[in-house]
Amino acid sequence: MTAEVIYGSELAANLRSEMKIEVDALREKGIIPTLTVVIIGDDPASKSYVRGKQKASKEVGVESNLIELPSTTSQQELLNLIDQLNEDKVNHGILVQLPLPKHIDEQIIIEAISPSKDVDGFHPINIGRMISGKDTFFPCTPFGIITMLKSKNIEIEGKKAVVVGRSNIVGKPVGQLLLNENATVTYCHSKTKNMREFTEDADILIVAVGKEHFLTGDDIKTGAVVVDVGVNRMANGKLTGDVEFESAKEKASYITPVPKGVGPMTITMLLHNTIKSARQFNNL
Ligand code: GUN
Repeated sequence: MTAEVIYGSELAANLRSEMKIEVDALREKGIIPTLTVVIIGDDPASKSYVRGKQKASKEVGVESNLIELPSTTSQQELLNLIDQLNEDKVNHGILVQLPLPKHIDEQIIIEAISPSKDVDGFHPINIGRMISGKDTFFPCTPFGIITMLKSKNIEIEGKKAVVVGRSNIVGKPVGQLLLNENATVTYCHSKTKNMREFTEDADILIVAVGKEHFLTGDDIKTGAVVVDVGVNRMANGKLTGDVEFESAKEKASYITPVPKGVGPMTITMLLHNTIKSARQFNNL
């Protein structure tokens, strides 16, 4: 079997052109969906993500403000800034780029952002709403993954979904969204014994561990749907996923590549959430 490759880059481009029309209509009404991104320090990976967010915002007409702060910024200074951004009438979305410097407690920052502007979907209130099966801001990478599966009419209900990785940003919430779609969900993580027993049983396999070629074709079932969330820089400078693409492609029914897979969808769902927030603030 040779898998069909799901290019998130193509789906993202289609979604963004639809969003552009929606944003143009909002702008006609005087509503300018606005996102503020806060970045602390100069981690090159974070800077590169933030540039991608700015470029995509421009493409769909979302206003994007960037606040760059030095790595010496104190937690209190950041909390004061978040208070201002929560209160102002201009912003619809606030994104504080993670990870933060060690002297700042990420959870305190996440909880300080108003749930109504939490376009990352990381605030406990939004996570709680998601777990309760309510509509809310869903975390962008998990939401992008579900959107990719749905775009190919891949059945989720009743399927065995295995999530490898349990981060708050990807693993845990993607498992929850799959459960909300009536999959039977299993989580694997660094303490899982005999991981292959689980992965080779998966109809839908989500891999988000951040380790180059952590799984290969030998770890997956023939016909599985494989979603690779990893972004790893190889010794030769090229990006690669958590799954060895060539061997997995020979067994899977669908597979996402790295790059051009999940990454472009994450940013697109961030824009989706920002537009949703702008509508909510205007009771639309
Ligand atoms: N760092 C890596 N991914 C993300 C994300 O989705 N949101 C934020 N705020 N920081 C990140």
